[in-house]
Formats: sequence, structure tokens, C-alpha cells
Amino acid sequence: MPRSKIAGIGKYVPANVVTNNDLTQYMDTNDEWIQERTGIKERRYAHRTEETTTTMAAEAAKIAIERAGTTAQEIDFIVFATLSPDYYFPGCGVMLQRALKMKEVGALDVRNQCSGFLYALSVADQFIKTGMYKNILVVGAEKHSFGLDMTTRGRNISVIFGDGAGAVVLQPTEKTDQGILSTHLHSDGESAEILAMYNPGTHANHWGAQNYADFDDAPIANMFMSHAMIDNAQNFPFMDGQSVFKKAVVKFPEVIHEALTANGYQSTDINMLIPHQANLRISQFVQAKLKLTDDQVYNNIQHYGNTTAASVPIALCEAWEKGKIKEGDLVCLAAFGSGFTWASALLKW
Ligand code: COA
Repeated sequence: MPRSKIAGIGKYVPANVVTNNDLTQYMDTNDEWIQERTGIKERRYAHRTEETTTTMAAEAAKIAIERAGTTAQEIDFIVFATLSPDYYFPGCGVMLQRALKMKEVGALDVRNQCSGFLYALSVADQFIKTGMYKNILVVGAEKHSFGLDMTTRGRNISVIFGDGAGAVVLQPTEKTDQGILSTHLHSDGESAEILAMYNPGTHANHWGAQNYADFDDAPIANMFMSHAMIDNAQNFPFMDGQSVFKKAVVKFPEVIHEALTANGYQSTDINMLIPHQANLRISQFVQAKLKLTDDQVYNNIQHYGNTTAASVPIALCEAWEKGKIKEGDLVCLAAFGSGFTWASALLKW
């Protein structure tokens, strides 16, 4: 059975740099608080009308496709991970198929938030291994800036997130010392409401979402997205940051160990760990727990914030572009986020 390898990788971040100080014009926050708690100095925000999740994905994908030595016409499947799609439906997969003028290939949308790219990579890996497809485009992209509460009320979330896109092309390889060795996916829906955007949705508060007013008297047609929801700021994400932090620092090391153990490696064997860029403090905790050196872990949240599904491919691409990942290196990708979902992938570059 062939393995799949990352044949090409690309990233795209918007030109607009938004510093912590820039945010103080919208909300009561400051550079010191943000840097101390998250490590973030700045993030990118997409152009309000010229850039969408799909257009950013297309730019990253074009680079990945070119670096893979192929063309958009040769791609035979798309897996697209995002929590900030251009439309509620259809998903971004078909939008990307159209934007890149691709053949009428299958396009799958993945909704696993911060773990989205690793879930997408794992799905694509299975299709390559079975021989079903030969050139799969796997994308993670987000335009968070359009959906954040940019007031003091939303500051605990809004300062964290940024926009961008990353993409890889997966192809089969017959080499025994190259490619994706394994992927591991997990979920625990017990805490689904802890990091979530409840609306628009069909729940009608069935699950008792926090910060959610009941709309028992609302006409049914207005339950999906009503004026009252907007008036009550219920169209923004909710996060219990401390609960997320506590779970993340347990699950990141656990899923990395799972990947290493499954392949007979130890943490000292890792050449490069690319953790999902949730929070620099989380990454530093994971690094210390695994006893990894600074050279073994790549972080760029300082400059892009948390770009959710895009964070792993953006960081992987940047580390590779800087020459920090070389042929034969053991690379570990790991993510944790809303759901909760968490995942890892171990690969030989
Ligand atoms: N600027 C200034 N003050 C802020 C602020 C901001 N952007 N956001 C919150 N605060 C204030 C709070 O209002 C609170 O004030 P109070 O003590 O007067 O009530 C104080 O700072 C502490 O808030 P708290 O939420 O307890 O801070 P924290 O130490 O837990 O840090 C996070 C908040 C979000 C940075 C932290 O919990 C975290 O990083 N969690 C993980 C989040 C994550 O990784 N999410 C992505 C998952 S993929």
C-alpha cells in the first residue's frame, strides 16, 4: 500500500497587519495583557470585500499545486477545513473548485475547527492509501475578522484570532522512508458549549448554551437567526478560556505521545513539532512537558494570531520555507480545539 506524502505546500496571509495597539481603538485591551497571556503581537485581517476564506485558500492552493509540480486540472479531490466559510452553505470546497477552474472533482468540507486541517489531512491520507485518488488538495483557511465581537465585551476572544490560509497537495509515494506514518483523531463532545458559536443554528437552546436567551415565543421562521440574537450579541463565538487551556495542555502531549508510540519513536526523535497555534503559552507548556528544545518546535502565533484550521499548514509552510524542515526529518503535527476535538499526524518529510 502506498503512503501519502506532502508533495507541495503553500500559505497565504492578508497584507493588512493589525497590532495589539491597533485593537485598543475598538476595545479596552492592551499590548502587555495580550502578549503576556497569548504571546500574540499582531495578526492579519483580510480585506473586507476583496478577500474571503475561499480567495485566501485559492492563493495558498496555487502555491502548493505549483510546488507539487502539478496543475489545478490534475487535482482529483478537495478537502477543505474551515469554521468561517464564505456561505453557511454550500461549503468552501466547491467555491475553491470554481475559483481554481478545476475539473468536476469531489469536494469535501470539514468542520473540526482548530483540528480541522489534521482531520482533513487524515481523510485525504486514507484516499491516497487506498489508491482512490492521486492528487488531493487539502486546505485550511479562515476569515475570522468578519465574525468577531470587536468591542470590550468580546475582547477575551477577539484578540486571539487572525485570518489566513494554508494548503498542501498529497500524492502517493512508494518510498518506505517518506510520507505520513499515521494520523490519530479524537473527540469529546461533553464540552461542546465551552468553545462554540451557537448561532446561526437549529438548537433553540436545547443544549442550554451559555449566554443564550430563550426565544420560546419567537415565530419558528426566526429561530435560525433573529434580530434578537443580534441585539443580544449571540451571533459571536463564546469561549471559556481557562477550561480550554486546562484541557489543551493535557490532550496535546497525549496525542503527540500516541503518534510517537504508534511508530516506535520517542519525543527526542522529533525534528520538528508544529503545534496548532492556539496560544504561545500552551505551546510552551507542551514543549516543556515533552522536553523538546526550541529548535524542535515551531511557533508563529506571535505574528498571525490563532488562525484555527489554517494555523498548522501556515506554520508548517513557514518552517519549511525557512529551511527548518529537511528531507528525512520526523515531523509531528498536533492540534486541539473546539468540540473538543484533537489530533496528530506523524510524517517523514
Ligand atoms: N485585554 C485585557 N483584559 C482582558 C482581555 C483582553 N483582551 N480579555 C479578558 N480580559 C480580562 C478579563 O475581563 C478578566 O478581568 P477581571 O479579572 O477584571 O474579571 C481578566 O482579564 C482575566 O480574564 P481571564 O479570562 O480569567 O484570563 P485568562 O488568564 O484565562 O486568559 C485567555 C484568557 C483566553 C488568554 C486564556 O484563558 C487562554 O489562552 N485560554 C486558551 C484559549 C485558547 O487557546 N483558545 C483557542 C483554542 S484552539
